[in-house]
Amino acid sequence: MKAVIFDLDGVICSTDEYHYLAWKTLADSLNIPFDRTANNRLRGVSRMASLDLILEQYRGPALSCVEKEALVNRKNQIYRESLKNMSPQDLSPEVRDTLCELRARGYLLAIGSSSKNTPFILNQLGLGKFFDAVSDGNNIKNSKPDPEVFQKAADFLGLQPKDCLVVEDALSGAAAAHSGGMTAACVGDASAQGAGDYNMSSLSDLLKILPEHPE
Ligand code: BG6
Ligand code: MG
Repeated sequence: MKAVIFDLDGVICSTDEYHYLAWKTLADSLNIPFDRTANNRLRGVSRMASLDLILEQYRGPALSCVEKEALVNRKNQIYRESLKNMSPQDLSPEVRDTLCELRARGYLLAIGSSSKNTPFILNQLGLGKFFDAVSDGNNIKNSKPDPEVFQKAADFLGLQPKDCLVVEDALSGAAAAHSGGMTAACVGDASAQGAGDYNMSSLSDLLKILPEHPE
């Protein structure tokens, strides 16, 4: 391995909880049942694809494209409200120390996230200039489980997929890594489901998986 490509929401920061709370507000307003288990299906999935998954339980009148667009915009407004107060203090010591140790060992570090809010979140966390490459929802056509976001990250780094370890909390993300020819190390829900080549109890386990020097 020469590089580590990190998913953002639920891996670098706990914004996955903010996504959940924003979708929950929207689902409640439409009388759609929605809980944390249902939310796991949305991990890694784009904004509009997430809405489509939530609407599977919708029993109201058919929604037009314009109405659906308004719904995702509303969700994003609620979500962005909760991002406003994020600061570098929201970066956990474990995440910060793991990133710094991997960089010290000589690994290239990238982000591979479906989120269009990635630049804003990285700035809020004080990581705006930290990563060697950022591939996110703004530079892809297809979101996870399509491998595009990770392939672009590898391209930006100038590396082959086999040189990259992907870190994910989403089943869709682990699937994306695998279909892109990459190894997946998982945390959270994806780890609990055994989706990774490595299923970690926390992010610092990366320091046991990856050798002291890139190979
Ligand atoms: C992923 C999240 O990182 O980004 C998904 O896991 C989210 O839950 C997706 O839907 C898109 O995010 P955004 O910020 O562009 O709405
Ligand atoms: Mg995630």
